[in-house]
Amino acid sequence: CGREIPRDPRLDASMGLLSEGYRFVSNLCDQLDSDIVSTRIRLREVICLRGGTAARLLYGAEGLTRVGAMPSSVLHLLQDKGSVQQLEGPAHRHRKALFLGICMDPARVEALVAEFRAAWRAALDEWEEADSIVLQQEAARVLTRAACRWAGVENQPEARLAEEIFDMIDKAGSIGPRNWLAQMRRSGTERRLRKLIEQVRAGEVVPGSATALHAIAFHREADGALLDDTVAAVELLNVLRPIVAVGRYITFTALALHRETNWRDLFRSGTLELAADFAEEVRRISPFFPFTAAVTTRPLQWEGYDLPADQWLLLDLYGTLHDARNFPDPARFRAERMLSWSGQDDCFVPQGGGEVAVTHRCPGEMITVELLKEAIRLLCLEMDYEIPPQDLGVRLNRLPAQPRSGMVLASIRRRP
Ligand code: HEM
Repeated sequence: CGREIPRDPRLDASMGLLSEGYRFVSNLCDQLDSDIVSTRIRLREVICLRGGTAARLLYGAEGLTRVGAMPSSVLHLLQDKGSVQQLEGPAHRHRKALFLGICMDPARVEALVAEFRAAWRAALDEWEEADSIVLQQEAARVLTRAACRWAGVENQPEARLAEEIFDMIDKAGSIGPRNWLAQMRRSGTERRLRKLIEQVRAGEVVPGSATALHAIAFHREADGALLDDTVAAVELLNVLRPIVAVGRYITFTALALHRETNWRDLFRSGTLELAADFAEEVRRISPFFPFTAAVTTRPLQWEGYDLPADQWLLLDLYGTLHDARNFPDPARFRAERMLSWSGQDDCFVPQGGGEVAVTHRCPGEMITVELLKEAIRLLCLEMDYEIPPQDLGVRLNRLPAQPRSGMVLASIRRRP
């Protein structure tokens, strides 16, 4: 008989989750003095975990699935049904290899960064004409353009696509009408991308052979069949959407540059060797994915605790990244921690953990960090701007979180 899992005395903790947001699991763990606790959310039994060994469970153990682990309001706006995230075992590894080929080839990532730089420079012309811009919105526009060019997705209504994708991310954590509207808009996006996949397969549109569109349209499942049209559109969106999502980290990068004046001065002097360390600390400290979730498909044991079959599990990513046992003085921005997505740190889990090819770890970490490094360079070396008075507060019960103003930059000028 396993150790007893400390239990939340509340009948249901949904209100706690709404009011505490990113801090919900950690608060409960602290109260019950345990890194594993059980509670109920929307009347469903859930076991919440935090820390590196818990990350190893959700990213490595057999006997888990992501199917049924996320509320459908979140799932439909993010990974969606039929996607790589909903697969396990050999089928997952086969599909995941497609994403590794698209996202983790350094030459392809460099090409994406080049598209991003070009799109940013084009936007800079417009920004110079405006009194001010909201960086969070503008970054989404710039990244949509870069992602589409890079992925071989031409002739899309880019401004609309940028808004649709922005909403998928922004509304994933809300419930009710705001979420439904975003889902409705998403079905339009998926319809357009499905049509594009059909056109590529029919030879009416010919994307470059190194593009994500080409790779996905002609990807074959292990049994030799092409992906179903709908699934192919979903997977294409699973490349475009998260690239646009990097805009949220770009916003937090601009916030960190505003606050960490020594770092900003260093970068502005042209010394960019440590930009990756800065970007990684932005990923650690900035709230983005609060948790990841899984469901057990059979009874499991973890650290002497029994986890029954069909048990919902939540891994506290934010709490793990903000735990003083893992990252001393966690509320302080310290790029000197020298974190890296390519390191072996089980606690550094902004985009999941474990081995990327065989677990659900995000394949987009290299892309994320390379785009952030370039954003640092562009913000520090290619433009001058002011940060006017605004509300830069970050509410931790808004999922996903953001500086409340969206980060307004004013008086933007191209640097001579
Ligand atoms: C998976 C976060 C960027 C594509 C994940 C997971 C997290 C995450 C936490 C794990 C989900 C789970 O365990 O169930 C993020 C964040 C990003 C980001 C915060 C920054 C904006 C990207 C990029 C791409 C990408 C740039 C690709 C271009 C994916 C895919 C999966 C995934 C395809 C599913 C992997 C699988 O199930 O095996 N992401 N991601 N993400 N991410 Fe990202």
